[in-house]
Amino acid sequence: MKAAVFRGAGVPLTIEEVELDPPKAGEVRVKIGAAGICRSDLHYMKGEARILEPTVLGHEGSGTVIELGEGVTTLKVGDRVILSFVPNCGRCKYCLTGRSNMCDAHYSTGPLMFDGTTRLHKGDERIHHMGKVACFAQEAVVPESGCVTIPDDVAFPQAAYIGCCVTTGVGGVIYGAKVTPGSTVAVVGCGGVGLNVLQGARLAGATKIIAVDTDDGKLEFAGQFGATHFVNPTNGDPVAAIKELTDGLGADFTFEAFGGAETIETAYNSAKKGGTTVVIGISPIGSDPVINPVELVRFEKTLKGSFYGSARPRVDFNVMVDLYRSGKIDLDTLEGKHYTLDQINEAYADLEAGLPGRGVITEF
Ligand SMILES: NC(=O)c1ccc[n+]([C@@H]2O[C@H](COP(=O)([O-])OP(=O)(O)OC[C@H]3O[C@@H](n4cnc5c(N)ncnc54)[C@H](O)[C@@H]3O)[C@@H](O)[C@H]2O)c1
Ligand SMILES: [Zn+2]
Ligand SMILES: [Zn+2]
Repeated sequence: MKAAVFRGAGVPLTIEEVELDPPKAGEVRVKIGAAGICRSDLHYMKGEARILEPTVLGHEGSGTVIELGEGVTTLKVGDRVILSFVPNCGRCKYCLTGRSNMCDAHYSTGPLMFDGTTRLHKGDERIHHMGKVACFAQEAVVPESGCVTIPDDVAFPQAAYIGCCVTTGVGGVIYGAKVTPGSTVAVVGCGGVGLNVLQGARLAGATKIIAVDTDDGKLEFAGQFGATHFVNPTNGDPVAAIKELTDGLGADFTFEAFGGAETIETAYNSAKKGGTTVVIGISPIGSDPVINPVELVRFEKTLKGSFYGSARPRVDFNVMVDLYRSGKIDLDTLEGKHYTLDQINEAYADLEAGLPGRGVITEF
């Protein structure tokens, strides 16, 4: 089958014929329906994060189950599913305490299947599976626990978005920060993830929602996701601008959704005394944000990370589906440019250039 293969930082992804072995016990084969263009894959391509190579990237995916491995009981052929990039074991301490987004069995195996091998290869060459998803390909073999079935009226692009940016962004607000009604919120970085933080804040009843982005087109687009105020750091100090918009106090909740030292500092410094900053962006290796440790104490600030929206994908994907189907979150305006798998490098160039909306591969 055809897949986009990552062979090293700085080298464009290559479209190659690769072999995909049949699903083993507890695994299924999925025909990919949509694959979203998320910055997390780009971090590998730019050398800002590392993964075993070669790898098929793509972790924001959806599709149709076409083959079952031995012992699979919760899925059947023909099921339409959202793919989770943290399939989970259900037995480790994290799974058992409701924090399946940090499943130990998944972390210890990374881009390998749970049994430590890969289904992807090219002759003798082992090819890894990003997040046990690897959806920049025509098909994927994934763990049963990495699939959540969806109703027929949820289209593949929206389903794929729930597989990363929606759950990450909306979840980061409601499960990570626990934003309360009437709060002030600032979101630094308004791409696919940041837009979902914005609409998560709207959902949670925040009354002042400040979008911060260096790209005016992104700020304009953010207005459709609940942003009430707009700050472009290229026009002046964003911390001062956020304080000015919040009676000189700073925001109750601030979010970082780009990935970098400077944006983390902006988010942290623009939270009020007693405020909470949630970092969602993945910073390049070696990033070194400066956090004033005395302010942390004297101002009783909270600085925390949120991975996969601090959600439990197998439960919370369904919550996101319900929020979407009941009109509480908007995943239709989110839908960006469509690409074929062959256009994957063009799709990432568009992401870097700041094309608004979540790009998505829909032809494989
Ligand atoms: N925590 C998680 O579970 C999780 C999940 C998915 C993605 N991520 C990470 O979230 C980050 C965002 O991903 P995305 O797909 O939304 O990326 P994106 O490229 O769509 O959005 C990033 C946005 O940040 C803006 N930006 C760039 N520099 C800025 C600055 N100095 N100040 C303010 N805004 C700035 C860009 O214009 C863009 O709109 C990435 O680091 C990604 O890896 C984390
Ligand atoms: Zn992602
Ligand atoms: Zn586990």
